[in-house]
Amino acid sequence: MTFDLARALAATPLPGIALYLLSNVPGFPPIVQTIHLLSISAIMGSVVLIDLKVLGLALPHQGTRELIRRLMPWTWAALPLLALSGLVFIVAQPHRYFDNPIFRLKFTLLVPAIALAAVFHATDLKDGKIAKVLAAVSLCLWLGVAMAGRWIAYVDYLWPVE
Ligand code: HEM
Repeated sequence: MTFDLARALAATPLPGIALYLLSNVPGFPPIVQTIHLLSISAIMGSVVLIDLKVLGLALPHQGTRELIRRLMPWTWAALPLLALSGLVFIVAQPHRYFDNPIFRLKFTLLVPAIALAAVFHATDLKDGKIAKVLAAVSLCLWLGVAMAGRWIAYVDYLWPVE
């Protein structure tokens, strides 16, 4: 299915436009990557900090609900920026990403990570056992997404091309 997606995208004019921008607008690739990295910082400093708080590993004197209310808007603001800044590279070379198993792993982890963030935001979870388990799962998912993001570029070390 991801192969079909890549092929469909490759057949549109979008890869040509994205490749043109990345190759011809001075500073465009590092600026887009910097937006991706700053947005990752916002995710790590918001939803991941909330996970650590619920696990009892950070901000012991801060109320959980108050922390969620103050920090979650950063998570929701960072996600569209991450999607946009990532999409520029995906659209430019669809096969490079859709055929990459680490890229697919990143999105397999990202979907439940976002769903859990929504659960934390929408429900009044007390700092009980269930909340702690969910926070631990959320923490692992976000760390997995970040690691997979970095590993996309190194997939050849895991599965060397003959
Ligand atoms: C929301 C949609 C997202 C899209 C479409 C996306 C897409 C991408 C793409 C295309 C790359 C470049 C990979 C490469 O060629 O090396 C990348 C890099 C990366 N992404 Fe994402 N990403 C998204 C969200 C996230 C999130 C939520 C995180 C972490 C919490 C993340 C962490 C990373 C990291 C660490 C890198 C490597 C950056 C670098 O070293 O320059 N991404 N992403």
